[in-house]
This record gives sequence, C-alpha cells and structure tokens, in this order.
Amino acid sequence: MNILVLNGSPRVTGGTAAMVSAFVGAAREAGHDVNVIEIATKNIHGCLACEYCHTSGNGSCVQRDDMDEIYPLWDAAEMIVVASPIYYGSFSGQMHCLIHRTYAGGIPEQCRKMALFLCSGAHGVYSNAEGIYHGYLQGYFGVEDLGVYEGTTSECKSPKMALRLRNLAFSLG
Ligand SMILES: Cc1cc2nc3c(=O)[nH]c(=O)nc-3n(C[C@H](O)[C@H](O)[C@H](O)COP(=O)(O)O)c2cc1C
Repeated sequence: MNILVLNGSPRVTGGTAAMVSAFVGAAREAGHDVNVIEIATKNIHGCLACEYCHTSGNGSCVQRDDMDEIYPLWDAAEMIVVASPIYYGSFSGQMHCLIHRTYAGGIPEQCRKMALFLCSGAHGVYSNAEGIYHGYLQGYFGVEDLGVYEGTTSECKSPKMALRLRNLAFSLG
C-alpha cells in the first residue's frame, strides 16, 4: 500500500517523531511504500482564501511553495496518517497550514484509510484535533478510520505505543 505520513512536529526527538518512527519502520518491514513528510522543515504558507483553486485554477493552488511536492503524494496515497503534537488544544500550526491548503485539491483521490497520531503534554486534550480529523478529514473523505493513537510525550515514546503502532502497520491489507 502507498502510505503518506504527515509529521507535524518540529521536534525530531519528540513523542510524535517516536510514533512516526515506530509505525513507518514496521510499515516498511511489512512491505508498504511509505512517504514521510516532515512538515516543519517545509515552506508551507497558509491558505489565502482567494478561491483561485475553485475557479480558474481548477483544483490547483495559486501559491508556489512546498505544497507543490505534497499535492501529488496526497493524491497518490492509499492511506494517510496525520501525526501532530497538540498545541493549544489542536494540531501544530504547520499541520493546520497543510490541512487548509488541501482545500485546493479536496478529497485525496486514492485514499481509502486514515489514522491519527497525537502527542501532548497533558491527558484529555485531544477532542478538538479528533473533531477536525473525523469531521473534516477521515469522515468527510468517507474513508476507513484505522484509529486514533494518542498519549503524553512519555506514553508516545513508550514500548507499549511502539507495539500498538507496529501492530497497526502489520494489520494493513
Ligand atoms: C506551542 C505549544 C503549545 C502546546 N499546547 C499544549 C496543549 O494545549 N495541551 C497539552 O497537553 N500540551 C501542549 N503542549 C505540549 C506538547 O503537546 C508536548 O510537548 C508534546 O510532547 C509535543 O509533541 P512532540 O514531543 O512530538 O514535539 C504545547 C507545546 C507547545 C510548544
């Protein structure tokens, strides 16, 4: 399966990175083709709400930045993993910018499955991010939800979480 993993954390040694690493390693071991985008290293601007994409742009964005390399991966992915730290009760700013920019292309063409990875400082802070995921991404796209994997920094770095994500990777068809 062609899998796109969007990592919205700027911390290379953080909990989100640990979750991504555990899942991606196992998914590759299981024979899947995985692209990981480290969003925080990319130049991704916010949506300008110009509606060029929905008028003369025919689904393409008026802005030229690193979304140019992400749009084709977004449309080719059969599974998309959204992985983000919790900032102010929601996704990181970088992840928000990426999600808003998918307004241009709309529903990813090949996507059939999604999963959400969230890492936070405290417990019980996931409802906003889960609401966006179920309301505007997985649910809106009408694709299978393979689960929400969430925890505090230490929980996300734990062997228990790594095992859960390894099991997820090996459960994929
Ligand atoms: C700008 C900022 C905002 C944050 N807001 C929250 C928050 O609202 N709730 C929370 O539990 N943790 C919050 N945190 C803590 C992070 O979620 C936590 O450090 C987590 O480990 C970040 O993921 P990472 O390790 O992958 O970078 C915030 C951290 C930063 C830098």
